[in-house]
Amino acid sequence: MKPAAEILRERLAGTPTVGVSGLGYVGLPLAVAFAESGAAVVGVDLDGDRVASIRKGQSFIEDVPTETLARLVQAGRLRATNDIAALRNADAIVICVPTPLGKSKEPDISFIVSAADAIAGILRRGQLVVLESTTYPGTTQEILLPRFEARGLKAGLNFFLAFSPERIDPGNRRYTLRDIPKIVGGLTPTCRELAGALYARVTKEIVPVSGPETAEMVKLFENTFRSVNIALVNEFAIMCRRLGISVWEVIGAAATKPFGYMPFYPGPGLGGHCLPSDPHYLSWKVRLEGYEPRFITFADEINRQMPAYVVQMVADALNERGRAVRRARILVLGVAYKANVADTRDSPALEIIETLRAKGAVVAYHDPFVPRVTVNRTELASVRWSDAEVGAHDLVLILTAHGTYDWAAIVSGARLVIDTRNATGGLPPAPHVIRL
Ligand SMILES: NC(=O)c1ccc[n+]([C@@H]2O[C@H](COP(=O)([O-])OP(=O)(O)OC[C@H]3O[C@@H](n4cnc5c(N)ncnc54)[C@H](O)[C@@H]3O)[C@@H](O)[C@H]2O)c1
Repeated sequence: MKPAAEILRERLAGTPTVGVSGLGYVGLPLAVAFAESGAAVVGVDLDGDRVASIRKGQSFIEDVPTETLARLVQAGRLRATNDIAALRNADAIVICVPTPLGKSKEPDISFIVSAADAIAGILRRGQLVVLESTTYPGTTQEILLPRFEARGLKAGLNFFLAFSPERIDPGNRRYTLRDIPKIVGGLTPTCRELAGALYARVTKEIVPVSGPETAEMVKLFENTFRSVNIALVNEFAIMCRRLGISVWEVIGAAATKPFGYMPFYPGPGLGGHCLPSDPHYLSWKVRLEGYEPRFITFADEINRQMPAYVVQMVADALNERGRAVRRARILVLGVAYKANVADTRDSPALEIIETLRAKGAVVAYHDPFVPRVTVNRTELASVRWSDAEVGAHDLVLILTAHGTYDWAAIVSGARLVIDTRNATGGLPPAPHVIRL
């Protein structure tokens, strides 16, 4: 009998069947990329609405055009189901389920555990399983491996296991899945080689590392690096305001240095599924080893105070004009956590709106990507732009700089603007425009 690795190697070089468990921001673009590479793709998700939407060829992720999805679904190259048994015949299975935080900021790996249990139930000889969800170092070895080996299989011999972090930046057209080098850490050299062969179908460059823990740590380092640098620049913004200096001008000038500097930008706070959570996966893990991380904790402290800082800016600006926050009419522009996406997970806008409402402000919001949002159990609807009446509000608060806004028109129509993103940076300074 041919060794399992050899058969899989041939399958991965031809027209393999690839299973994707979890069809969200990470899983759906990946499923589409594999289907475009000629693989037959089977996506599994527990969310019935997502499965139904994919079956109709209707995309719910900005980076996946509906036309592309519909074409692949109609051609039978990508199908979605909620039945894990559909992955029985897959050559490779990639896990892209969420990894949120629990109530005390501890890792909640329950989605990984349930996906792994489900896959363990159908795993067979010759399959490759890759975990892509961001998680603490050791997850692949400690959570996945024992579940799969309990099936009587041996990693590296008759099934293959690897970790490969997803590094996409949703909404980023310049660096797509194909352009971003793929880090791959296998349980054994054969696992790594086969996972590399899988991803070579959809990415230009594979970066092999010595094992899954290293690959898991690479992702946490990247996101901790971003979180710490954003905290640093947020603190710079606070210091610059105290000194009457524009932090945006400082960053722009510093960024002309061709080496040793990389620009990060301040804002109303961190958001999204990754940056506010991922560093805590590492904190939790190293605490178990008796080490108390300091940068992560400190950066988190600064970043988490930014929504409150923005609320204070609003209160101060109104106060200077003889107004209280109570009964002030405030129009928030943008509730997604970053520009040109619809993702509101952990968006600082939610906390800012909630605090302003708790202080008695009358808050309306507009977001071209987010028709409805729930703030502290109250559902709010985006005002229609034609009804937004920028000039009728006491203050316009820019929280997300979506590319569709006409900033010049907004600034000229508004009575008072607080801009936390330097969206109005290209316009001449005006006394009624206050930038972070
Ligand atoms: N969103 C990003 O920008 C990004 C970037 C890089 C890495 N990541 C990481 O990728 C992972 C996935 O993130 P996401 O943003 O795609 O999450 P998401 O919530 O958009 O998608 C995850 C999907 O998994 C499904 N799911 C949950 N449990 C399941 C199970 N047991 N079986 C099958 N499906 C299941 C959910 O229904 C959901 O559709 C996380 O670990 C995240 O940290 C995210």
